[in-house]
Amino acid sequence: MRVGVFDSGLGGLTVLNKALDILPDEHFLYFADVDHVPYGEKTREQIVEFVDGAVDYMVNEGCKAIVIACNTATSAGVDFLREKYDFLPIIGIEPAVKPAVLHFSGGKRVLVVATPITVKGEKLKRLIETYDKDHIVDTVALSELVNYAEKGIFDTDIIVPYLHDALKNFNPDDYGVLVLGCTHFNFFKDSFKIVMPGVQIIDGSTGSASYLKTRMEEEGLLATKEDRTEEEKVIYVESGRPVTDKAELEKIDRLCKRWRELN
Ligand code: DGL
Repeated sequence: MRVGVFDSGLGGLTVLNKALDILPDEHFLYFADVDHVPYGEKTREQIVEFVDGAVDYMVNEGCKAIVIACNTATSAGVDFLREKYDFLPIIGIEPAVKPAVLHFSGGKRVLVVATPITVKGEKLKRLIETYDKDHIVDTVALSELVNYAEKGIFDTDIIVPYLHDALKNFNPDDYGVLVLGCTHFNFFKDSFKIVMPGVQIIDGSTGSASYLKTRMEEEGLLATKEDRTEEEKVIYVESGRPVTDKAELEKIDRLCKRWRELN
């Protein structure tokens, strides 16, 4: 049985790769809802409907646990999903506000960047209220990066001016840590480093992959070496269509490589 990893598009590949590292005996199904990306500009109701359809697909394919590797979908729909699919673990990625405030701020401020839906969402507000006792957390919605990532545009000549403008009100000297609260943003770490020099950059992919492992251990769902098969390690699915096109698989491979180089 596979572990399902969901994202609106290709951002969740970052979480998938972490999970592949720490769960070497597992097989995965990666579901990218490319027909509906970007989620950050949809309504909450639309997002819940899309992600419900995706989880339904993964459950029907026999997935034993699901990771919502999309902060926006977690924000809009993880409570609904956990209630509806209460027979399997559902792990939802969230912006890494807790470690940022408790361990990485170094006495400075914390900047959280995410999609408009995540920034406006109750979930992030509650997360910040819980940990930001000294009011050191600022949030910014970045609406263009998901589109750039999906189009394969990572050139710092294009991304750095966009980020400079979007973050012009935030002086890097004031910040100890930048939280990437959208999995797509992980592909732009090189540009973020230029725009926010000296600021530590963290994201929720390690936390989510570790929590997946913990939950699977608790539920006795972990695969062992004996479960290894000749089957593909990862099956890729785009909005319900298994990906077989060579060019598309190469694109996915390039993104995984890019993420590994940046981390
Ligand atoms: N990767 C998704 C996230 O983490 C992007 C959401 C979108 O499609 O806008 O929020």
